Amino acid sequence: MTDFAWTRDQFHIPLGLIYLDGNSLGPMPKATPARLERMMTEEWGERLITGWNACGWMQMPRRLGDRLGRLIGAEEGHVVVGDTLSIKVFQALSAALQVVPERRVILSDRGNFPSDLYMAEGLIHMLGDRHELRLVAPHELEDAITEEVGVLLVTEVDYRTGRRHDLKALTRKAHDMGAMVIWDLAHSVGALPVHVAAGGADFAVGCTYKYINAGPGAPAFIYVSPEHVDHVEPALCGWLGHDKPFSFEPGYRPAEGIERMRVGTPPVLQMAALDAALDVWDKVDMGRLRKRSLELTGLMIEEIEMNCPGLKLATPRENEARGSQVSFRSEHGYAIMQALIDLGVIGDFRAPDILRFGITPLYIGETEIKEAVEVLARILRGALWDHPKYHRRKPVT
Ligand SMILES: Cc1ncc(COP(=O)(O)O)c(C=O)c1O
Repeated sequence: MTDFAWTRDQFHIPLGLIYLDGNSLGPMPKATPARLERMMTEEWGERLITGWNACGWMQMPRRLGDRLGRLIGAEEGHVVVGDTLSIKVFQALSAALQVVPERRVILSDRGNFPSDLYMAEGLIHMLGDRHELRLVAPHELEDAITEEVGVLLVTEVDYRTGRRHDLKALTRKAHDMGAMVIWDLAHSVGALPVHVAAGGADFAVGCTYKYINAGPGAPAFIYVSPEHVDHVEPALCGWLGHDKPFSFEPGYRPAEGIERMRVGTPPVLQMAALDAALDVWDKVDMGRLRKRSLELTGLMIEEIEMNCPGLKLATPRENEARGSQVSFRSEHGYAIMQALIDLGVIGDFRAPDILRFGITPLYIGETEIKEAVEVLARILRGALWDHPKYHRRKPVT
């Protein structure tokens, strides 16, 4: 069971605001400031450098990895936290390519987040331009898995449309064809149940600043399956992925297991915020969360379609085919979203024309959804968005 009244009370949401952007940056758990304050005063302040040993800072990437691992169905000791998601994509991809040295194709889809594709491009270039990044439309991905493919790099939920891939089917087909699979769980972890071990993921990566609510710039994570973890040679040979970092040997030897995916000094303050955020997740049943998320995303679609003619649904209607966000298209999407934010409903905009709403049952319910759609309908009816101040592009959309 999950008590959604209790979870709602765990977050600080500014009064009068409806926050529909937890798929981009989760809100602050109320416990986080005190946790950070404690870490700063009692740990950093009082212990200074002895905190690395006395307060377990050095073990945090593994300990938090296991806490996250429970949310993604990972075996214990197979997830480690650190760096940014782009870096974890690079690590996973370079490791996966080592397992299939004779294959030359990295397959992904055009709905994937650009940074995943950019990291693949950069890696291909570093490896001497001998690989191909093959991109197809999201619905063509399964058919595009052939024996040429070495690595399938797939983000489960499309950041723009909220369309959800069938990871189980894609992974089964990829394995039948002898390919490795990397799951990017940026829009899945904390949004829906994930089963990396049962689903056969070779590698998985994700971030913690979205649905997990660990704060801006919070660290990413990587999962490596038991089959590969002791064989892959990390491409980023940082000292904290070394077998004996404090021996300061001149040559690199990878640590055992998932520790080899660490790179450098962990961001301890951000990890303390992640630790606090995960306390909420200990009380959440992911099956129950998914059921609620589908009810709420369904309601959002219904309400917008009923009250906002002119907006075109971009998210799949079928429950199983969507994540925990709802997206609509409009050629005036940017200005409409600015007007909406101005009137206290926060979502975001993704070029070229997507209005995006994260529907997060931990702190959003039917009332917020109905009120948000009322404001949206008012903006559209009165063309309130058509004001010069709403057309001015800000650096972050
Ligand atoms: C699917 C996906 N991959 C990669 C990234 C990039 O993450 P980071 O900025 O942490 O490197 C994002 C960011 O939103 C994302 O949604």
